[in-house]
Amino acid sequence: LTTRTPFIAGNWKMNLDHLQAVAFVQKLHWTLKDAKHESDSVEVGLFPPFTDLRTVQTLLDADKIPFALGAQDLSTKDSGAYTGEVSGQFLAKLDAKYVIIGHSERREYHAESDEVVAAKVQAALRHGLVPVICVGETAADLEEFGASAVPVGQLEVALEGVPADADIVVAYEPVWAIGSGQAATPEQAQEVCAKLREVVASKLGADAAARTRVLYGGSVKSSNIASFMREPDVDGALVGGASLVADEFAAIIRFQK
Ligand code: G3P
Repeated sequence: LTTRTPFIAGNWKMNLDHLQAVAFVQKLHWTLKDAKHESDSVEVGLFPPFTDLRTVQTLLDADKIPFALGAQDLSTKDSGAYTGEVSGQFLAKLDAKYVIIGHSERREYHAESDEVVAAKVQAALRHGLVPVICVGETAADLEEFGASAVPVGQLEVALEGVPADADIVVAYEPVWAIGSGQAATPEQAQEVCAKLREVVASKLGADAAARTRVLYGGSVKSSNIASFMREPDVDGALVGGASLVADEFAAIIRFQK
């Protein structure tokens, strides 16, 4: 039986400048420490804006704070004349372990296609970063195709050419649930997360499916996290708004099933 370490990831989006980041990380660390809840039983990931990565990395390193660091995006390219882009090799040098790829806000506002997402997954793997591959249906998709068809299709393309032993994370984020206060039900999340795990199984094999963490994201908060974590195929959460408030994010990390 494979046990998957729960992963609670905070996607800050375009929030918290580097001074605010310092205050936030310290507060989160001390809140969890006071509650004796900084342990290996839950992996905590922080995904600040690019401009905060060095600051947060230095702080984690100096104070031996056991949070993983990740970026919110990366370039498909490794270096060169690509103004404004940030490559995976730079992120890896900053000790980033993870990188979010294909967030619905990138797909919507930056026209990222499934093919671009797949190229970014390859770029992440080239530099030893773990891609957190985001998929999810819009409200219109939900109406037209049901919940799972779009995310399943998105993940199939993103996993093209990914080796069976690759370390990846999948995040199911229904677009209609993001920032809306209207989370999916645990049953809805379970149904789609189970289908996404089947995609991992068919593309990368049973071992990969058993070890890959599938997260739910979309209006997760301290009052609903436990209900998601009780579902067998939900291995954690990708949290937006509620990850910006240290007490609230700490309460999410300290969920009890
Ligand atoms: O990536 C996390 C995200 O899109 C969910 O945002 O604010 O609904 O938790 P939020």
